[in-house]
Amino acid sequence: MTSEYLLRMEHICKSFGVVKALDDVTFTVRPGTVHALVGENGAGKSTLMNVLFGIHQRDSGEIWLKDKTVCCANPHDALMHGISMVHQELDQVSERTVMENIWLGRYPARLMLVDHKKMYHDTKKIFESMGVDIDPKATVKNLPVSYRQMAEIAKAISYNSDIIVMDEPTSSLTEKEVDKLMQLMNIIRGQGRGIIFITHKLDEVKRIADDITIMRDGKRIWTGDVKEYDINQIVSLMVGREMDNLYPPKDNVPEETVLEVRNLKGMGKNAVKDVSFKLRKGEILGIAGLLGSRRTELVETIFGLRPIESGEILLNGKPIVNKSPQQAIKNGFALVTEERKFNGNFPGMSVLFNALITKFNRRGAYRNNLNLLSSKKMAKDAQWVIDTLRVKTPGSAIKMSKLSGGNQQKVIIGRWLLLNPDILLLDDPTRGIDVGAKYEIYQFIINLAKQGKSIIMISSDMSELFGVADRVMVMSNGYETGCLDRSELNQETIFKLSAQRL
Ligand SMILES: Nc1ncnc2c1ncn2[C@@H]1O[C@H](COP(=O)(O)OP(=O)(O)OP(=O)(O)O)[C@@H](O)[C@H]1O
Ligand SMILES: [Mg+2]
Repeated sequence: MTSEYLLRMEHICKSFGVVKALDDVTFTVRPGTVHALVGENGAGKSTLMNVLFGIHQRDSGEIWLKDKTVCCANPHDALMHGISMVHQELDQVSERTVMENIWLGRYPARLMLVDHKKMYHDTKKIFESMGVDIDPKATVKNLPVSYRQMAEIAKAISYNSDIIVMDEPTSSLTEKEVDKLMQLMNIIRGQGRGIIFITHKLDEVKRIADDITIMRDGKRIWTGDVKEYDINQIVSLMVGREMDNLYPPKDNVPEETVLEVRNLKGMGKNAVKDVSFKLRKGEILGIAGLLGSRRTELVETIFGLRPIESGEILLNGKPIVNKSPQQAIKNGFALVTEERKFNGNFPGMSVLFNALITKFNRRGAYRNNLNLLSSKKMAKDAQWVIDTLRVKTPGSAIKMSKLSGGNQQKVIIGRWLLLNPDILLLDDPTRGIDVGAKYEIYQFIINLAKQGKSIIMISSDMSELFGVADRVMVMSNGYETGCLDRSELNQETIFKLSAQRL
């Protein structure tokens, strides 16, 4: 008799020291389905999948693939059993090409030599099936995050596995790419294979998933048909309380202009071409745009990470030049970057180190009267980050790598907030953060604005921009194509402006 399930994980327990990450979790996948796995940051989603994929060994419980019990000792073993995984954190060799990353350790060989031609064509074929146009020979570090994420998905698909785990695959994809991924998931499902889909974007769950499992605090709370619950009910089950509103009330009042950018043009490839805007005190300015609209490049240019060819930046009416991030920080700017893995996350170091690193670089920070480092001052700031952003961690001495992905992101946001910047640049800050914590971050941003700080927030999530921004500037291919007041915001106009310079 064949099993009705592709996968059954039964009564899985896993502890890390005193942290019970998985507490008697049962999880099943039916053939030809997409099974969404949702829950707050630190709920245990990645741990459950890491147990399946042989990265962690379970303490107890059983795993069945069809009719066989299995125990994957390591990821290689899991792949041999027909399980592949797209990891939450991109783990690519950034100096190598896309195709080398995809075929790492299993290069097609001919006469003992790596067959680059075959590798190229095989890679091309996978990308074609995904409907994406990425050069297999491009070096990974030169690609935008979304392309890197697509390449990672291509890799998981290239194994032709029965079960594909996708741990937040859409976190840095733009809408168009999400559409492509969903089409692809549809095809895979049609072949009778199973997809486990982890995401914090519940509209995606509604759109693609058949089944859903909700986890909270290491436990399975509910499994069932996605159609049985609406998004609000799923949110309540996730966070364990009612949440009527995804966005806090907006009560900040923008005042006079503090920052003015005039005809900014960057130097080099992918640079900003022509951007002008004003930012007011106490204002939250959203930036919308498609992939390749150079929104990240814009904030990087303002922050002194990229050279300026022409144009002007005025701070309180006076022209300034941020030649380096250090100078930008001195001028009161802070930048929360898009991707934690490549931009200053130190997974092997403590939460405290990761929380304090930027402020630490400032002269005199954390010194006492005798000019000695004060561990008391440091501990206080680290605790502030943990409390303010509600980081789920047993303490600040623990290594960053032991935190869940979303909680690492919170620490990194916190490190910039510690600088108490006048102008905060946020590049997709809520990526990978759960709905409850998002609400708290929005609340924090609005409070900052109320205190007279100014915020620029890039987001690919339009409802988020509608929820918190006072105005939204749209970029298209390096140009500013329009700026809409809160009252004028609508999806259609933003789409139009986003496509204006393509
Ligand atoms: N290697 C580890 N060592 C110690 N604790 C860990 C380790 N990996 C995970 N944990 C802990 O296990 C719990 C579950 O983490 P997990 O990464 O599974 O959460 P998640 O549901 O994937 O969250 P997110 O949405 O933030 O990615 C967290 O409390 C986390 O700190
Ligand atoms: Mg995770």
